[in-house]
Amino acid sequence: MTENIEKFLTEFTASITSGTFVKLTLGNYKGSDLHLQKINIRLIKTNKGIRLFFLYRHDSRDIAKNYTIPNGQVLIRQLLGTEFFSGHLFTTRNDFQLDIGRKNSRLNVGKPAFKKAPPLEHDRKKEKLIDPHSVYLNALGITNTNGEVGSQQQSKWRQINKYVQILADLLDRSDLKDRTSLNIVDMGSGKGYLTFAAYDYFKNIRGVDVQMTGVEARSDLAAIANDVARASEFDGLEFVQATIDSYPLKDVNILIALHACDTATDDALFQGIRSGADLIVAAPCCHKQIRKQMKPPPMMHDILKHGVMIERVAETLTDGLRALLLERAGYATRLFEFISVEHTPKNNMLVGTKLAEAKIPTISKPRSAI
Ligand SMILES: C[S@@+](CC[C@H](N)C(=O)[O-])C[C@H]1O[C@@H](n2cnc3c(N)ncnc32)[C@H](O)[C@@H]1O
Repeated sequence: MTENIEKFLTEFTASITSGTFVKLTLGNYKGSDLHLQKINIRLIKTNKGIRLFFLYRHDSRDIAKNYTIPNGQVLIRQLLGTEFFSGHLFTTRNDFQLDIGRKNSRLNVGKPAFKKAPPLEHDRKKEKLIDPHSVYLNALGITNTNGEVGSQQQSKWRQINKYVQILADLLDRSDLKDRTSLNIVDMGSGKGYLTFAAYDYFKNIRGVDVQMTGVEARSDLAAIANDVARASEFDGLEFVQATIDSYPLKDVNILIALHACDTATDDALFQGIRSGADLIVAAPCCHKQIRKQMKPPPMMHDILKHGVMIERVAETLTDGLRALLLERAGYATRLFEFISVEHTPKNNMLVGTKLAEAKIPTISKPRSAI
């Protein structure tokens, strides 16, 4: 029985050595983890060298880890026949299907499904700032193992790229543009799509020494994101489980809050102002707080009688007030649509750039009440 396992492992090692390896899947899991289904393994190139990237596919979430080639080989050897009872090795010469039974095992050799091994080099297309082959994009389900963006993920992919482009432009227009180090916090980071992309861009494209923290209320999301950060070998990126208002900030250059729910955006703006962040970038989400307080005057009653109308007014008032509050705290503001509504209707972006003391205008009293 072990003979076929050894043959399979020999083919695996040979495919890596000869550059014909495409990917390997371990399946038919019989271990103790109730949620683990299979492991997809491929080669990646990280800043520290070539690694075997393991994506542990669970029924509800994925965990990404990477190993040096020798360590990954040892692990695969340990797992086959103990926890995983099938292996599918894809190479550009042949595909190998290993099935391990109680007494016997079978190794079938077939024609290769793939003619070319996937590229290892970071093949950054000029028009995109983010490499679709990045480990984190695969681990977060945006791309498949070949670096292709899934049809359901196109919108998210465009959002990520647009967002990184905006951050790059904002940085270039600010006094931070020549900084060699940046401290960035992302408030309400969720699964971290945008946090990873921003870190990757600043660190790996612009070569800035980045310390970035994603602050997220949900411990499960923070844990997944930390796994992916480690697998990507993003040493300066970490996620902490905390609420936005309670997280202590110090010496922040850029504070980001993207679609942090409802008043969590306000907590983030407040934290940005209090810590004196140089740049505050927020894409507000729902605008429920003001909506509850709004009582249209009689002449507007009928005009605003439809829920959608009052919602839009609430959104406009909320974000307008947020901009004014930032200005009062010494920030120059810009409010614009950062992506077309077809991708997300929550597409306002509010940017505050801290002004030097001398440039802060005196705020006049509002001329009349709303
Ligand atoms: C809509 S998701 C956006 C995630 C991410 N910023 C993005 O744009 O992909 C909002 C996230 O903010 C988190 N969140 C909401 N209120 C929060 C708070 N007060 N403190 C920390 N995290 C919060 C939620 O748990 C959720 O993961």
